Amino acid sequence: MARLNDNYLKLKAGYLFPEIARRVKAFAEAHPQAQIIRLGIGDVTRPLAPAVIRAFHQGVDELAQAGTFHGYGPEQGYDWLIDTIIAKSYRPLGVELAASEVFISDGSKCDTANILDIFDLGNRVAICDPVYPVYNDTNVMAGRTGEADDRGYYQGLVYMPCTAENHFAPAFPRERVDLIYLCYPNNPTGAVASREQLRGWVDYAIDSQAIILFDAAYEAFITEPGVPHSIYELPGARQCAIEFRSFSKTAGFTGVRCGLTVVPEELTATTAQGERVALNRLWNRRQCTKFNGVSYPVQRAAAAVYSEEGAPQVRETIDFYMENARLIREGLTEAGIVCYGGVNAPYIWLKTPGGMGSWEFFDRLLAECQVVGTPGSGFGPSGEGYFRLSAFGERGQVVEAIQRIRNRWGK
Ligand code: MLT
Repeated sequence: MARLNDNYLKLKAGYLFPEIARRVKAFAEAHPQAQIIRLGIGDVTRPLAPAVIRAFHQGVDELAQAGTFHGYGPEQGYDWLIDTIIAKSYRPLGVELAASEVFISDGSKCDTANILDIFDLGNRVAICDPVYPVYNDTNVMAGRTGEADDRGYYQGLVYMPCTAENHFAPAFPRERVDLIYLCYPNNPTGAVASREQLRGWVDYAIDSQAIILFDAAYEAFITEPGVPHSIYELPGARQCAIEFRSFSKTAGFTGVRCGLTVVPEELTATTAQGERVALNRLWNRRQCTKFNGVSYPVQRAAAAVYSEEGAPQVRETIDFYMENARLIREGLTEAGIVCYGGVNAPYIWLKTPGGMGSWEFFDRLLAECQVVGTPGSGFGPSGEGYFRLSAFGERGQVVEAIQRIRNRWGK
């Protein structure tokens, strides 16, 4: 008889966002007149940039002609996209990458999960709390943990609390760890890491021979000068870090799917015998076996994100979302709600009014204001008492949501 992967049964609840969708659907069915405003999952609402759409169409049209048809592409992505990303997105930061170090994928969610394939189960893994649930859950699925305790901490993982008290900047783990997930700008807290803070992490990883899994999916939303966009801006990071990036929020690709992972050539990990082996080789092997690359039109569309015409269009949409973030942050702060984030990230992390539990606030916000957000505790125990609002909504809806919240909970 077939045996299932018991590790899946250790997972506490459903994945966070489907659980929210389930509750919202139940509410909508019970209240068909309700004008629900969705600021929960970080899903974009504005259409793709015109230049991106044009490139996408051209890519599809090429598939219609025998002379320009494309079948399987390179598993790692087309050179013209990789070269464009290096030239337009990394070189301006002073970061030089070889084409062989960049792997185009169908998104950073998948890559932050799939990367575990190339690491031994015996690695000690550190994650922030609260955290993007994928890092936690995929380690549980892989069998790297025991059961969850009463707080929701899985035995075997090292949790790094991030709260207002430590300015959402986790302390270095006191015990030895081998893999450290960092996400900056941070989902869910909206915090960023300064150059000094990131330098500290790089030094820590090199000293302890750990590897940082750096999720930079929101780097395009950084507005303040001096905040690093890539971990490779820090000396030494090539020896200790893998970086993930995404077109999802940056260019509206949540439904289109495209991302990338950088695995520097000099990054190594040890075999059971203690021999050092390049991880780039392993990731390449993994991708060639399990992945057939992103579709040709999608890669054409992704390249247009950097074109002379596309880049300012994409920037305009990012600015639009960041204006939403400002409106939410300032509107709620004025009303006496304590807000964090929203300056260099499209998420506002707020303290629930009156110290309400995160899920209680979720339910009341839905019932009393018909506004959907994400309960902080869904990202981990240290998120209890916090709540996340996404800035990816339509302007009118964002303004209306702020007004409804102010009317109900404002001072
Ligand atoms: C979020 O809301 O945290 C994100 O949309 C989730 C994701 O990018 O997968």
